[in-house]
Amino acid sequence: EDLGIPLTLRINGKTYSLRVEARVTLLDALREYLGLTGTKKGCDRGQCGACTVLCDGQRIYSCLALAAMQDGKEITTIEGLANGDTLHPVQAAFIEQDGFQCGYCTPGQICASVALIEEVKQGCASAVTPDLTHPPQLAELSESEIKERLSSNLCRCGAYNGIVAAVGQAIGQTPPPPE
Ligand code: FES
Ligand code: FES
Repeated sequence: EDLGIPLTLRINGKTYSLRVEARVTLLDALREYLGLTGTKKGCDRGQCGACTVLCDGQRIYSCLALAAMQDGKEITTIEGLANGDTLHPVQAAFIEQDGFQCGYCTPGQICASVALIEEVKQGCASAVTPDLTHPPQLAELSESEIKERLSSNLCRCGAYNGIVAAVGQAIGQTPPPPE
């Protein structure tokens, strides 16, 4: 007898039916039940951001989300960002700007960056620009603002310069000439 909770997950445009115990996280459902191992487990406790995915367009730590709570939500993981063989512009920017070293944090960094860009477009505040009468403009996002908005995601390799440059490229900023 299977006592799991029946669940329909929408992930990257596909529908998956599964049964999970109530305690199973979205992260474990993705990786262990559905074989979508692009989403990484770093800390498993909401501290590193490696597990970041998009849920109805908003970034979440999938290690802190129960799979059973995601019924009917649209989940996007790193596997769902490219369009066929064409990379998402943020993915392409991470490659061009050396936005990674070991790559373990990268799926989370990229999903967080995709969400960050949407958040700025929608005028969401940050600690750097808390005043919503003067919302930040995407093309003018400062380096410190990009860093603040990506402070959700740690990189043990310290590839932060490349990560910030990748976000800069994705929002159309011209990188400074190499020193
Ligand atoms: Fe989820 Fe670290 S694995 S925040
Ligand atoms: Fe290694 Fe970020 S590239 S943890």
